[in-house]
Amino acid sequence: MIEASEIIVQKAASSRLSQVTLKNVPFGKYFTDHMLEADYENGEWKAVEIKPYAPLQLDPATAALHYGQAIFEGIKAYKDINGSIAIFRPFENFRRFNVSAERMQMPAVPEEIFIEGMRALINLDQAWIPDQEDHSLYIRPFMIATDDVIGVKPSEKYKFLIILSPTGPYYDKPMRIYVEENYTRAAPGGIGFAKAAANYGASMLPTAKAKELGYDQVLWTDAFEHRYVQEIGTMNVFFVIGDTAYTPDLSQGTILDGITRDSVITVLGDMGLSVVEREISIDEIVAAYAEGQLKEVFGTGTAAVISSIRELRYKDYVMEFDVSKWTIAPEVKSRLAAIRNGSANDEHGWLYRIS
Ligand code: COI
Repeated sequence: MIEASEIIVQKAASSRLSQVTLKNVPFGKYFTDHMLEADYENGEWKAVEIKPYAPLQLDPATAALHYGQAIFEGIKAYKDINGSIAIFRPFENFRRFNVSAERMQMPAVPEEIFIEGMRALINLDQAWIPDQEDHSLYIRPFMIATDDVIGVKPSEKYKFLIILSPTGPYYDKPMRIYVEENYTRAAPGGIGFAKAAANYGASMLPTAKAKELGYDQVLWTDAFEHRYVQEIGTMNVFFVIGDTAYTPDLSQGTILDGITRDSVITVLGDMGLSVVEREISIDEIVAAYAEGQLKEVFGTGTAAVISSIRELRYKDYVMEFDVSKWTIAPEVKSRLAAIRNGSANDEHGWLYRIS
């Protein structure tokens, strides 16, 4: 077993930080000075290295490039008002990563590599964490199959990496969402619950088509009837109808078990709202809107945090919202921000402090 103390650290000769402006930094464009890399071979994880950020050298036959045996996570680290650094619920991402690994027939990554590796890497590159509101250090752990054999079978070799990216908001304005009823993201028995690279590759064409119509993302519906809503592009979805919040339940295995989703359910409960997780049909959303009962619609995700939806289109029916009048989504967002920036008590124990 790898101990945290066994991580080999090779420092960059100089930092690239002076070339990047952290204020209003776009999502996922810049990466810190170092990355973590660990290889799996002969049934075990080998040396774990933190080294200067650099391109990977891969054989053209690398299995992940052909058959998509690739998974990832998205996590954020924040600097609080006192300058101390914490990662938001990394153990939940660690658990989900290994759920994805199992579904894709990949080896589990041990906690010593995933959590302790991440902690050591962030510690080293902590100067890159932006302290501006709505900014953070986005952490991207991922694993790829690295056999250089193109037979369709689980790889015997894997590479686990963590890269870090200083980031501002993923969506910087309220969104327009198109309800998708032709393409399918996931069906029961598939990989919808896994954070598999393939789920995102398959979303590109439907999303591009929605963009051509002026929408930012699609709201996926179920594979059989295209009637039950699932999730939005990069986020889980919540609907406030009357004084109850609804979000699709996870029982079919077609929806990502979002960590922000789970945090939002808890925060809505803290605010005294009742939250219902169940199948939600697009017809009831339309009916609630027509009756004036659909108050707020928002997406939740690590990258997206809380993103208000100002327009939802189903077929030719357009539902529009005046987000400036909303109270619930902004309150959830500010409660989560207060926990992260240290101005509110971390009463649920969500922060994993690294300094
Ligand atoms: C995240 O929210 O962290 C995601 O992984 C969504 C997207 C950026 C792929």
